[in-house]
Amino acid sequence: MRINILTLFPNMFNGFLDESIIKRAIDNKKVEINIKNLRDYTSDKHKHVDDTPYGGGHGMVLKCEPVFNAINELKKDNTKVIMLSPQGIPFTQRLAKSLAKEEDLLFICGHYEGFDERISSICDMELSIGDYVLTGGELPSMVITDSITRLLPGVIEEESHEKESFEDNLLDYPTYTKPREFNGMKVPDVLLSGDHKKIDEWRKAEAIRATKEKRPDLLVKEIKENEYVKGNKEERKVIKIGKYALIDDKSVKKDVIFNITNQFNFMPKKEVNRKELSSVSKVAISEPTFIESLAKNNINKKLNILLKQVKIVLDDETDDEGTAYVLGELDRLESMLLHNYAKYLDIDYVSLIQNKIDLLRNEINLKQMMKVETIEYKGRHR
Ligand SMILES: C[S@@+](CC[C@H](N)C(=O)[O-])C[C@H]1O[C@@H](n2cnc3c(N)ncnc32)[C@H](O)[C@@H]1O
Repeated sequence: MRINILTLFPNMFNGFLDESIIKRAIDNKKVEINIKNLRDYTSDKHKHVDDTPYGGGHGMVLKCEPVFNAINELKKDNTKVIMLSPQGIPFTQRLAKSLAKEEDLLFICGHYEGFDERISSICDMELSIGDYVLTGGELPSMVITDSITRLLPGVIEEESHEKESFEDNLLDYPTYTKPREFNGMKVPDVLLSGDHKKIDEWRKAEAIRATKEKRPDLLVKEIKENEYVKGNKEERKVIKIGKYALIDDKSVKKDVIFNITNQFNFMPKKEVNRKELSSVSKVAISEPTFIESLAKNNINKKLNILLKQVKIVLDDETDDEGTAYVLGELDRLESMLLHNYAKYLDIDYVSLIQNKIDLLRNEINLKQMMKVETIEYKGRHR
């Protein structure tokens, strides 16, 4: 695979290309990565690449001319031209896999206020690495190049990425290494059992548990990425629901309705082959607020566990390490609530849970303060 990256700041790529797996992949000719300086494609003597925006406003906008020149020179018949932009479609592991099958990629890094809008007309797709704004497209192009390169044959052991996060829309299972026990935390017995069937089952169950807990949205995901790759008309839209992958095909006139079971699994009402691609014309979820229920279910489960742990702290049945652990878990729950779940829940419910977490945190802190005061009092009256 060849990857060309068009940038105003070629030096930013030095460490990235000179270290670790990417360097090895380049040395072993698994990938060719060329950094191209946008200024080399200007035609005026001052090598201008940007100008002020029409209509006023602050900042500078990248001009059409040097970018068009560069694309025209670097693009071959099989090149996919990718513009980095916070407005692009979100980059995902699935897209990484799809792009890893291409032969030639050209990334266009923006800077300052971004690109003249007309530049998007000669790009095949716009990609974003997340809903935040960076100073330039250099880091996004490195992020995407890294995730694609490690998927190329022979770069890392294929088994490593067969089982990692986002495969089958699941997060990765938890992993442990030596020692068997650290700060009172033990490695699960099953991993020491040597029974590989049991280990596989445990890992599968843990991957599902982690996904339900941390990223319930992954369990229902419409895979739309291929639609954005211009010229890939033969690609059809695939809808993934839990273990079921369904091809969206209006001509088959087959509707499938999924029920959400008590364990928050997805059960098709009609016959659908597991893991096999089945053509359907319409998919519906019979419980419209299922993600909300799933999120609330997970939060309540976590909160109940934490309530028990907080009681242990308040009853003085643990040491400082245990107390710090429970405080850490409260922070973790709050962070999960705000970052992973809040988007599915109404604001009153989120602040109710936040208040509960605050209350528990305050109780622990009060207890800690009283403990310190008691020790000081005893010290003074000895
Ligand atoms: C400061 S940004 C321009 C932001 C633009 N004015 C906007 O609000 O959409 C400059 C350049 O950084 C890159 N960039 C910034 N954030 C990005 C993101 N989340 N994903 C991909 N590229 C990004 C793009 O190439 C963009 O043209």
